[in-house]
Amino acid sequence: MDRKISKVLARLEKQERAELRKGDSISNLQKIHTITSKIGRFYNVLLKATKAKTVLEIGTSAGYSTIWFAEALQKIPKSKIITIENNPEKIQIAKRNFEESGIADKIETRFGDALDVLEWISHEPKKTKFDFIFIDADKERYIQYFDASLPLLKVGGLICADNITYPKKFNNLMRAYLKHVRSNRKVISVTVPIDNGEEITIKLEP
Ligand SMILES: C[S@@+](CC[C@H](N)C(=O)[O-])C[C@H]1O[C@@H](n2cnc3c(N)ncnc32)[C@H](O)[C@@H]1O
Repeated sequence: MDRKISKVLARLEKQERAELRKGDSISNLQKIHTITSKIGRFYNVLLKATKAKTVLEIGTSAGYSTIWFAEALQKIPKSKIITIENNPEKIQIAKRNFEESGIADKIETRFGDALDVLEWISHEPKKTKFDFIFIDADKERYIQYFDASLPLLKVGGLICADNITYPKKFNNLMRAYLKHVRSNRKVISVTVPIDNGEEITIKLEP
């Protein structure tokens, strides 16, 4: 891995560990709430194996997961990532991290409420279809994100979601998400039990 990328990832991992130690003494808005490094590595391998070219992320924060995705796409011509975030301060932080990692040219950050941005994307003339969509914003709206994302996903593409099994406070919401996803006959879905638990859903038909 490029040294600039691994340096930024290591710094954000250190920040995440410090936040977990400090607990509630930092506000939720200030926390970066990253995926774990194992999950980052998992998606990096998955993106490389599936030769993904177009990625859509819902919930950027400081850009930790985005950088793992960008590393996977780095050598693929015309590949790109759109990442959505509604906190302007986090967008600024993420943009600095993308610059420092040397992968900023692959990433388009979109500011706004994720449901609004998904709606705008669906009406754009370019009609980009994505190979991989990652859901990692407010847990209460995972089902709405799934429904708004599915039409934007290529057949054979993946919608993945974080925090399926952990933290436990989200378990009820995630149960409802899984029930919703698994009742959709156009997809097949499986929970991968690494760290916070990832739901990997493949779209089988338009
Ligand atoms: C768990 S963090 C994302 C972490 C990031 N994916 C990573 O692993 O590095 C969730 C982010 O989603 C953002 N968010 C929450 N609700 C949102 C919404 N309705 N629209 C857009 N972004 C939202 C939060 O501000 C926060 O930065």
